[in-house]
Amino acid sequence: MKIESHLAQIGSIKEPVTGAVSFPIYQSTAFRHPQLGQSTGFDYARTKSPTRSVLEEAAAKLESGDAGFACSSGMAALQTIFALFSQGDHLIVSLDLYGGTYRLLERIMSRFGVTASYVDTNDLDGINELYQPNTKAVLIETPTNPLMMITDIERVASWAKAKGLLTIVDNTLLTPFFQRPIELGADIVIHSATKYLGGHNDVLAGLIVTKGKELSEQMAFLHNSIGAVLGPQDSWLLMRGMKTLALRMERHQYNATKISEYLQTHPAVEEVYYPALPHHPNYDIQNKQSSGNTGIFSFRLKDARYIEPILRHVKLIAFAESLGGVESLMTYPAVQTHADIPEEIRRQIGVDDRLLRFSVGIEHVDDLIGDLEQALAAAKQEIGEE
Ligand SMILES: Cc1ncc(COP(=O)(O)O)c(C=O)c1O
Repeated sequence: MKIESHLAQIGSIKEPVTGAVSFPIYQSTAFRHPQLGQSTGFDYARTKSPTRSVLEEAAAKLESGDAGFACSSGMAALQTIFALFSQGDHLIVSLDLYGGTYRLLERIMSRFGVTASYVDTNDLDGINELYQPNTKAVLIETPTNPLMMITDIERVASWAKAKGLLTIVDNTLLTPFFQRPIELGADIVIHSATKYLGGHNDVLAGLIVTKGKELSEQMAFLHNSIGAVLGPQDSWLLMRGMKTLALRMERHQYNATKISEYLQTHPAVEEVYYPALPHHPNYDIQNKQSSGNTGIFSFRLKDARYIEPILRHVKLIAFAESLGGVESLMTYPAVQTHADIPEEIRRQIGVDDRLLRFSVGIEHVDDLIGDLEQALAAAKQEIGEE
């Protein structure tokens, strides 16, 4: 079956008692044992819970992994993964990184003696230079958020494998509909399922998918021991969202491509960062490893004075801090999602005060372009530009 069919059918043939097409929400934390020494397969909901299990099996299948783990948020998923590491371990991490992941590494994991070095993970020489005998893993975001830098997953994963390191890929922006890192050699995939997988800005969730028996068993132990698991209602909501992932991603991609092309020619815009545009430096790698493009991109205005009035004048597009939902959202990374990254690092990578990130929703593309056009025109008038 193709991925569209797997997605549409999540959970629909799993309920043996009533034949319910929508898998039920099992709101129970305890499960009766038939007799001493026997189990239905479910004992206590932190370890395993029926609605969550259906979601976890679907996640593993979609990402071509062996086991899936649903967590209470993307950050909970990352924290569970980082618990694989011990004091003295070192990680190599994508430079242009989600601010929350940077904060978790620098303000929390560092206190437990786990250190991280940051580099453009598409630069294999740069990665090599950072390698230390205590390096245990490479953590890649591709595309990165917000600058849409691309890493050749296969190349880095094969380098990591040769060194005995784990490759972890944050696949939040592309989802398994467009990119499956495990098929390219990654060991672990992590998602902020709050974003495209959920898709409706209404459920906070994280997913981990692992490849290999030993790693899957280790992750099951950590998932249960740490306990940042997803509840049954949110598991159901996430599955409901995932059923329409294919349709949504296609529309997100279509809209984002059209709007990025429009912005690229706008006189107030200096640069558009979107891997679907042929001038993107890693356009070829993106096409090789992914079957499509995400629905978010960033763009830099020529003048920082545009930012405030644009955010005030957009009407259909909401000035809000998330991505991947059906509703279009615009974010100012320097003061919102990436505020926890020190200013000099932000400037070095290009997350500056002229950069906006646009999570393009599934509204009609003409309405979105119309909204941007009027906001840019109003901003231009306010700042008195010729
Ligand atoms: C790429 C990426 N990874 C992880 C996270 C964290 O996920 P959550 O907000 O679900 O905890 C985010 C959140 O924005 C993200 O964009």
